[in-house]
Amino acid sequence: MTRPEAPAQAGAPAQAGAELKGRYTAADLGVFTRDEASRFAPRGEGDPQADAVLAWELLYRLEPELYDRLATAERLHPGVVGWLPRDLGRIAEVGAGAGRLTMELIERGQHISAVEPALPLRRILRRKLAAADHGDRVRVIPGFFDDLPLPDGFADLVVACSAFTPAPGHGGQAGLAEMERVCRPGGLVAIIWPNNLDWLAAHGYRYVSFPGPMSVQFGSHHEAVELAEIFYPQAAGEIRRRGARQVPFEVLGINPPRDLAFRVLPG
Ligand SMILES: C[S@@+](CC[C@H](N)C(=O)[O-])C[C@H]1O[C@@H](n2cnc3c(N)ncnc32)[C@H](O)[C@@H]1O
Repeated sequence: MTRPEAPAQAGAPAQAGAELKGRYTAADLGVFTRDEASRFAPRGEGDPQADAVLAWELLYRLEPELYDRLATAERLHPGVVGWLPRDLGRIAEVGAGAGRLTMELIERGQHISAVEPALPLRRILRRKLAAADHGDRVRVIPGFFDDLPLPDGFADLVVACSAFTPAPGHGGQAGLAEMERVCRPGGLVAIIWPNNLDWLAAHGYRYVSFPGPMSVQFGSHHEAVELAEIFYPQAAGEIRRRGARQVPFEVLGINPPRDLAFRVLPG
């Protein structure tokens, strides 16, 4: 299904500099398209100050460059990308965002379809691709997990990174079924940085994790403090004290992007 590319509203945060939890209000929900609102704020309701998932969705649309700075610092474990198959014909990525994984997929497939609902993130991704070698291998398209705009058996690899969850608005049962529909028989479906291993295991997904210390690589100590005050306020004091631009994931209190869940479809 093709969706209209509604113009993004150049909204300013309710409180610039505020932590994510208090950054937006219900008044900001108007930035969502109808299709987005039906998934992220059903019945037109929702309080981003009480619902962190909703606050992230507003961030992607109201302050996409701020989100991109964080995602750029939170690099994937090289083992994760190294584990994915090479020399593929077609790859579909869902929830591609500003391209943290997409840029790595360019060298692994001839044609990559990057599905991303948030128009401001699609714009950032297109900008990065325009400057990248072989960036024209990637087609950036709007869409949602539960209604992928791709044909049956389309891709050798269908992948999502830090995007899929069992919640219906962010994948769920319907979203997983869609990823598997779009994958060819014998192909691979992979969920990178999964957040609910038991749920995925119950759906036949196996798990791989890559060892070693991992840090978030901020551009400077100043940026580490600035972004921590917004996204990891509980760790900001410790990051200030350390005086370094690299921050171990343990300091932030989150699991590092070192793992994936996968299923090879029957051939
Ligand atoms: C944390 S970001 C990760 C982006 C990117 N994959 C990365 O690793 O940097 C989550 C992404 O999932 C997308 N997303 C959220 N709900 C979605 C849905 N129902 N269908 C497809 N993508 C969705 C968001 O727009 C956002 O780009």
